[in-house]
Amino acid sequence: MCDAFVSPPSLLVLRKLRISSSPNGSTTSYKPSIRSKYPSVHASVSQNHSYRWSLQGMTALVTGGTRGIGHAIVEELAGHGAIVHTCARNESELNNCLKGWVDEGFEITGSVCDVSLQHDREKLIKEVSCLFGGKLYILVNNVGTNIRKPMVELTSKEFTTMLSTNFESVFHISQLSHPLLKASKSGSIVFTSSVSGFVSLKSMTVQGATKGAINQLTRNLACEWAKDGIRSNAVAPWYIKTSMVEQVLSNKEYVEEVLDCTPLGRLGDPKEVSSLVAFLCMPASSYITGQIICVDGGMSINGFYPRHG
Ligand SMILES: NC(=O)c1ccc[n+]([C@@H]2O[C@H](COP(=O)([O-])OP(=O)(O)OC[C@H]3O[C@@H](n4cnc5c(N)ncnc54)[C@H](OP(=O)(O)O)[C@@H]3O)[C@@H](O)[C@H]2O)c1
Repeated sequence: MCDAFVSPPSLLVLRKLRISSSPNGSTTSYKPSIRSKYPSVHASVSQNHSYRWSLQGMTALVTGGTRGIGHAIVEELAGHGAIVHTCARNESELNNCLKGWVDEGFEITGSVCDVSLQHDREKLIKEVSCLFGGKLYILVNNVGTNIRKPMVELTSKEFTTMLSTNFESVFHISQLSHPLLKASKSGSIVFTSSVSGFVSLKSMTVQGATKGAINQLTRNLACEWAKDGIRSNAVAPWYIKTSMVEQVLSNKEYVEEVLDCTPLGRLGDPKEVSSLVAFLCMPASSYITGQIICVDGGMSINGFYPRHG
């Protein structure tokens, strides 16, 4: 019985924020002249177009969906037609989000779960399996944490917290989800990595190592699970305005230094990450696997281009 997850009373409401139209496709992307000249070509191209750029009817699990990047990913996937389940530790925050989403017309459910705990992870995937009839099309391993300290000051407890939250969780959740993703015959995993997995960032040595490990997990799963119809990709953000970095970004001088090494000269928005995640889950990206794509305003490819001449 699927009775363990938090389910608001009226989930089966219309998803009014869906971006694409029905899967049999009547989009407005093609010009009327082309339509009238080649009606059957237009119909099939249009149908194909709607299918390729949609997540209609796909089931998705997004970890850490109540705030920041995860919250944007939940809304982006649901907006493209996916049926989404999410999780977080704070129950009242989760309930508030679920209520808001149902009011908006989204089809989203959620579980209270701490992904750093083995028992919680097992319970979460059982719930997801039960809820989605054993088939999962999309897994977004989004949760991550950071404890900013120089290497020599990190305690073993802090080290363990970062490893279990950032890496052990994504390893185990991916492993547990494998039969569900395989059953969909067209599964897609997206990891939320970080530019810290590519370049050195101050006071983020262990966090960077966990993201580097995620990057290699992304590549290995792309090869190991390709035969099961599962793709594996990652997104690697630089500074995105979320609660995780609120405190550090309250320091104006620090923000100026961040902008100095960001060619686009601004911080990112969670929606600028979620749009890429949605694309990586769509049939439109069906030949992309094993890639880690930076969403960083150019920070990771910046050499020396001083902002002020
Ligand atoms: N923001 C950035 O600048 C940035 C840059 C690079 C990479 N990232 C990565 O992006 C991901 C999301 O970060 P964010 O900035 O969106 O974080 P955030 O604003 O702090 O949101 C984190 C979300 O994850 C949930 N969460 C945290 N720990 C959890 C746990 N142990 N079990 C279950 N849920 C948990 C939180 O809810 P609860 O607290 O209720 O559990 C919340 O919903 C992370 O992997 C992070 O490393 C962020």
